[in-house]
Formats: sequence, C-alpha cells, structure tokens
Amino acid sequence: MSEFGVIGLGVMGSSISLNLLDHGFELSVYNREQGGEGILVQQFVDTNKSKYKFKAFTDLKAFVESLQRPRRILVMIKAGVALDSLIEQILPLIDEGDILIDGGNSLYKDTERRARELKRHGIHFFGCGISGGEKGARYGPSIMPGGNKQLYQKYLAKYLEAIAAKDTGGKACCSYIGEGGAGHFVKMIHNGIEYAEMQLIVELFDCLKSTHSYEDISKIFESWKSQGLDSYLLDITIDILNKKEEDDFLLDKILDRASNKGTGAWSSIAAFELGSVNTMMASSVFARYISSFKSERERFHVPKAISQQAFDLDKLRKAYQFARIINHHQGFEILSIASKSYSWDLNLQEICRVWTNGCIIRSGFMNRCIDYFAAERSLLNHEFIMDDLRNSEQAIVDSIKKGLDNRIPLPCLGASLDYWVSITTRQLPANLIQAMRDYFGAHRYQRNDSDPDELFHTNWEA
Ligand code: 6PG
Repeated sequence: MSEFGVIGLGVMGSSISLNLLDHGFELSVYNREQGGEGILVQQFVDTNKSKYKFKAFTDLKAFVESLQRPRRILVMIKAGVALDSLIEQILPLIDEGDILIDGGNSLYKDTERRARELKRHGIHFFGCGISGGEKGARYGPSIMPGGNKQLYQKYLAKYLEAIAAKDTGGKACCSYIGEGGAGHFVKMIHNGIEYAEMQLIVELFDCLKSTHSYEDISKIFESWKSQGLDSYLLDITIDILNKKEEDDFLLDKILDRASNKGTGAWSSIAAFELGSVNTMMASSVFARYISSFKSERERFHVPKAISQQAFDLDKLRKAYQFARIINHHQGFEILSIASKSYSWDLNLQEICRVWTNGCIIRSGFMNRCIDYFAAERSLLNHEFIMDDLRNSEQAIVDSIKKGLDNRIPLPCLGASLDYWVSITTRQLPANLIQAMRDYFGAHRYQRNDSDPDELFHTNWEA
C-alpha cells in the first residue's frame, strides 16, 4: 500500500510526484483517461519506472484502494469545475478520516466551501498554496497549507516539509498557515505581489529600452542585485533579456499582450471586499488587461517623441526600491487585515520565511522582511523603512516625471507613489466627498470639531 497519492499528472503534478519519490515516499499516482489524458500516466510510467518504484493508475477506484488509511491525496488539477467534479467522483470511494489536499490555485472562498461540504462526509480538506512553477514543484516549492492544524502536523507535515524548498537555515519553506481557506488566500496574495513585482520590472525595462541595449539593461539590473534589489524575478529578467533566437532577441518576437489566470484579479477583489488598499496589484492587473487591447492600441497610437530623454539610473534604482517596499507593505497589509477578519491568526514573519525560497517572489528583501516582521506587524512602523521611503521620494517623483515626458505608462510605479503621498498626508480632500454624499443623499458626515461618533446632516440648498 502507498502512503501518499497524487492525482493529476500534468506538469506540476508529475514534478511533485517525482519530488515525493526522490524523498523515498511510497507513492500512487493517478490521472483520468478522459480527453486522451491516459497518455500522461503512460508517459510518467515509461519515463520513471527504471529509476523509481511507484503505482500508477487511470482507474480512480483502484488508485484509492492502493492507499493506506487515512488516505493522503494531493490533487494537482485545474482549479474550478474540474476540481469539483473530481471531488464528486472520489467522494463515494474514500472513507471518513481521509485527507484531500488541493494543491492548485483555487479561490480561497471555494476552498472554504469545499472544506465545509467535505466535513459533512468526515473528509478533511486542505487548501494548499504551492509556488515555484515546474522547477519548484520538482526540486522544492514554497508550500502554504491551510486546514486543520493538528491533522496537518500528524499526517501531512512530514511529506510537504520534505519536498519543500529550504530557507537559508535549512528549514522547510512550508508552514501551516491557518484554518479553512487561509493557505489559498496567502498563495493568492503571493500572486498579487508577484503581479506587481513583474509589472515594476517591465516598467523599468520600458524606461530603459529606448536608450539602452538589452545587454546594457541586463547589466544594469545585474548591478542592482548587489544593491539590495536581488530577486528571482530580476534574475529571470536578466536571462530573458539575453535570450536570442538566431540573431534576434526572442523578446522582440513575443506579442505584447499579457495573459493571466485570475489570481491577481482575485487579490484585488479581496482588497476591495476587505477594505484594504492594494493599488499596486490592482494596477498591475489592469496593466495586463490594457495590454490585451492590442487592436485599440494600434488604432489610437500616438507616436513618441523621436528623441527620448535618458533616465537617471540612480534615481530609477531608488524608485524601484521605493516601489518594492510599498508593494510588500501593501501585500502584507491585506494579509494582516484578512487575518483579523477571518480570525486566521496569520504569522506574517513565518509567511515571509516560507516565501524566501522556492516561490516566485523570493528575494533578498523578503529575507530581510523576516526580521522586520519579528518586531512589527507593518513595514511602515519601522523608522528606518520610513526614512528610506522619505529619502527616495524625490527619485521616484523625478523618474515618473521623466516617464510622463517620454510617454511611458508607469501605472505600478505611479500607484506606489500615490499610496505613499496619500498615507503621509494629514489632510485629504475626503471632506468634500463627504459633503457631496450628504448633499445628494443625506448620507451625513462627521465633523472635526465634534465627537467623531456624532453624524451631521446639512440642508445644503437652504
Ligand atoms: C507560482 C505562480 C503560479 C502562477 C503563474 C501564472 O507561484 O508558482 O504564481 O502559481 O500560476 O505565475 O499566473 P498568471 O497566469 O495569472 O500570470
């Protein structure tokens, strides 16, 4: 009998299966036959049978029966209806006390619903965020499991922590996150931060590309790595900038329409629902959307000035540093707000640690954040971080001005600056909003010369 099962032998599922096998676990794997997918099982067997011992199935019942009880089944299939349909099929085959782990990018509210429904049948459901793409899954992802803590520790920690990436101290980048949908929520926010980190890099690239060669830009980025800006995403950008297809840069052949699978939008929707200010991830989602309006962009095209003004590299670097701090701040703020709203008791410091290796947003800054969150629940509570932001404000202002002069859209850099200016402004014009609301809708307003709990209405037309 196998001690662990994996359902779904797509890229992520097969990589995680090999990772589990590398760690010596007895494994059963399954993929449905429908849609010609049985070939995935055959390929997995053919490629790996000489190196590993495992059981492979296209029959769900036989797969379930090959597992020790309580069964531990990691599901690595497409989030959404495919998962609901799998749950429907497997439910009559599994027994009370068995454990299903969803390792996909599911919406945390769906995870909560599934956990509730499965609980009625005595099945334990874990929503487990897994980051790191194919390579991560194969050699060590960052893992964010959510569900029942005791069961996690008793039945799952051994497996998930073995296959996870390791932090600089050798500890697994996998840690119990919280009840219900907490693991998937945290993974979703990871992706929201990822969207903004990616958008910031592409904005910098846009600032530099008319005055520098790709090789130069990659060297500039390389030099920034030793100035506190090292990250996995910057590393892959350097590789991408140097990738050629014969004599041409591959990047120049890629259509400028960015796709997405929804997690950035979900993060932004969660921000709206929770009253959290996550302007950077939201503007990054919209930047992807606007890129997809390719035909409109062709139609409305306004040519740029022939001679583009060069950016001050030092200011641009400081602007990037500034925006990254705000991005991480906004990301951790929504975690903090969600933690209170959903009573998840999220450990921000531990989440930072889990995000220091294996995942897409791993970086030197994330490593430093472990210490920052040891002392405070908000990055902006650190005076030295506030000093950094104050000291680089002029650099980001100048960089954005130059961007405007050059007709370069900088939505994410702009969102970071707007956030900073707003959060550091004592008097905002929200009093006028309140007056208008009261004028047309008698919504009432608080006064600054009275008890804040008291609400006032004025007959504005009198
Ligand atoms: C990860 C990634 C991954 C995500 C891709 C694509 O942590 O490994 O976040 O989960 O699916 O990055 O996401 P988009 O298609 O939405 O860009």
